[in-house]
Amino acid sequence: MSEAVFYTRKPKDIVSPIPILQCCFFEVIGLSEEKYVGYVHSGKEYDSELDRLERQASIFEPTTIRHLETMGITEGWKCLEVGAGTGPTARWLSNRVGSKGRVVATDIDMRFLERLNIPNLEVRRHDILKDDLERDEYDLVHCRKLLEHLPDPEKALKKMAHAVRPGGWLLVEEDDYGSMLSVDVTDPSAVSLTAALRRSFDSILKRSPVNPHFGRRLRGLVEGLGFVEVGNEGWTCMTRGGDPLAQLIATDMQLTSRLITIPAGVVTQEEADKYCRLILDPTFYYPCYTFFSAWGRKPIGEGRT
Ligand SMILES: C[S@@+](CC[C@H](N)C(=O)[O-])C[C@H]1O[C@@H](n2cnc3c(N)ncnc32)[C@H](O)[C@@H]1O
Repeated sequence: MSEAVFYTRKPKDIVSPIPILQCCFFEVIGLSEEKYVGYVHSGKEYDSELDRLERQASIFEPTTIRHLETMGITEGWKCLEVGAGTGPTARWLSNRVGSKGRVVATDIDMRFLERLNIPNLEVRRHDILKDDLERDEYDLVHCRKLLEHLPDPEKALKKMAHAVRPGGWLLVEEDDYGSMLSVDVTDPSAVSLTAALRRSFDSILKRSPVNPHFGRRLRGLVEGLGFVEVGNEGWTCMTRGGDPLAQLIATDMQLTSRLITIPAGVVTQEEADKYCRLILDPTFYYPCYTFFSAWGRKPIGEGRT
């Protein structure tokens, strides 16, 4: 991984406006039954998670749509969106494929998808690791920010690949926090943040199903499935504290600190608070994680994947 240099200044007294939010970590890690139940049933958490997922989608959806447009998605396509969250891509797909097409949006958490009432959209409660999927059925199968959370991402990807019809497309998009480890070696606070991030990512990888470096594996995995016309791209940018993206990063950081890295003794609460203030400091610039997309086409006439 290349080490880019970035510029930083010392943090000022900025208080994080972001409450500790719960997200799909609770579902997949199952760290505490109490937290799991709270996530699923609390109205307040519903709003927080809805807000987080919608803010996240507004940042990454344009990249997804650009890739879908390049694939030539058009009227009449049959599409599958796995781990659809609040369904932004499913909504876009439904509109694009029109009344002659069909979209299936799946998730283990139906709270947000259930709200959608679109004639050519089927919402389906479905666990990609446990439940069956159609074979050789869809013109497009897509997921975003799903595999990185799963205990067996290869199994999930294989099932998604099976669901693509011969000649159809698979598009998978996942994060990789490698680019956040870059550092301005002249800035002590940046150096210490980078060291803490490195320790934290190692700990998250060891102590949970979440893989903070999953994005870099996508191309190899899609090629390994025998798909052709494989392409990939990574998106990143310089982030500044206060950017919408910085707020998402801080939210995730607070969550993983509370669930994993503080209990594991990797960082103290004080350190976690300090790094979070840094992430939100409008005078602090840092490279965002990389959002990797990889795509490929299922070969025609070579039997089942
Ligand atoms: C980070 S969110 C991303 C949501 C959406 N793809 C987006 O980008 O806006 C991950 C989603 O995956 C869902 N999920 C987690 N584990 C899953 C599983 N085993 N099967 C299906 N969906 C799952 C979560 O409920 C959550 O909605």
